[in-house]
Amino acid sequence: MKITISAIKADIGAIAGHICPSPGVVNAVSEFVKKNAKNLLIDYYVGYCGDDIHILMTHQRGVGNKEIHGLAWEAFKAGTAVAKAEGLYGAGQDLLKDSFSGNVRGLGPGVAEMEIEERPAEPFLFFAADKTEPGAFNLPLYLAFADPMYSPGLMLSSTLAAGFSFTIMDVNYTEGDRVITLNAPEDLYDIAALLRDNHRFVIESIRSRKTGEIAVVCSTTRLHNIAGKYVGKDDPVMLVRVQSQFPATGEVVAPFEIAHYVAGDCRGSHNVPLMPVKRNSTIGYFDGPAMVQCLGFSVKDGKLIGPVDIFDHPYWDWVREKAAQKTSEIRRQGFSGPAMVGMEELEYGGIAERLHKLEEKFSVRK
Ligand code: F6R
Ligand code: MG
Ligand code: MG
Repeated sequence: MKITISAIKADIGAIAGHICPSPGVVNAVSEFVKKNAKNLLIDYYVGYCGDDIHILMTHQRGVGNKEIHGLAWEAFKAGTAVAKAEGLYGAGQDLLKDSFSGNVRGLGPGVAEMEIEERPAEPFLFFAADKTEPGAFNLPLYLAFADPMYSPGLMLSSTLAAGFSFTIMDVNYTEGDRVITLNAPEDLYDIAALLRDNHRFVIESIRSRKTGEIAVVCSTTRLHNIAGKYVGKDDPVMLVRVQSQFPATGEVVAPFEIAHYVAGDCRGSHNVPLMPVKRNSTIGYFDGPAMVQCLGFSVKDGKLIGPVDIFDHPYWDWVREKAAQKTSEIRRQGFSGPAMVGMEELEYGGIAERLHKLEEKFSVRK
């Protein structure tokens, strides 16, 4: 059976700053989806990661479908109405355009969706991150889909041996989708050369080279490219099919043990480790930590079984502690050097004005 899995997410307002949506907002979004799911969705799940609400939907209308995107857009609008009534902070902040034009891409919400021929058993993982950028998934995906040091299946399984093709997007380009497709393992060094730059080059999708099947889709929105100014980090979502012709669940989640440094936390302007957290986690330190959730599902004829909260396990408590320690180490040096992101990623305009004014006061000593 052919089904589409669509994950659409938006920050439409939060309690106490950019912390988490209120129960009223989550309820409004869920109720809207529930009421309007008939004849449209097979199944759905609503949750949140920090201040971002996500709607995970299964259906048979393919990717980029007007009705499916319209349902999510209207659900977020219903949630925004509650957020405004409750006086939540940043109510409707990711609904950057006034009207819906058939697809939420380019309007503010993040989207990751894939159409698949459902396997007899179809396990997949849904990742949602907050206080960070889409490039935060670059390293974990590289390690899971291209590096036998993390993903032993690449050398142990003859199915995985054919490798994977990576489609990478240049998210700085705003005239359209500027993409390149490279093959692992032959193009490993080229892939690495792009993926080292998390701000600009972002994995959009990964396919099995053996079967051509889609394995991964990530949201690649650049909110500031849409809004023309800083409106928060992009807080990506991602879908990853696992097992058999794809890496195992364990191979996909293993790289998150690194708690690698990404851009995020307070004002989206710092380099901090990505902390794996539990389902529906809230923000707790320095407008962070930059965090990621991983929900495991099985899907049969479009019906979702799950979620299993993958990072809700004693193993990940240790990783969380390590991530907190790494955070504390780099935060102690405040604004200095690598603790903050580079000028082009410092998305608040104030510092540019400040530096501009200082330019006039400089003199060149003769
Ligand atoms: C980071 C984030 C927060 C805000 C900060 C200031 O992605 O959302 O750190 O940048 O709380 O928010 P405003 O400018 O809305 O007062
Ligand atoms: Mg957010
Ligand atoms: Mg936000």
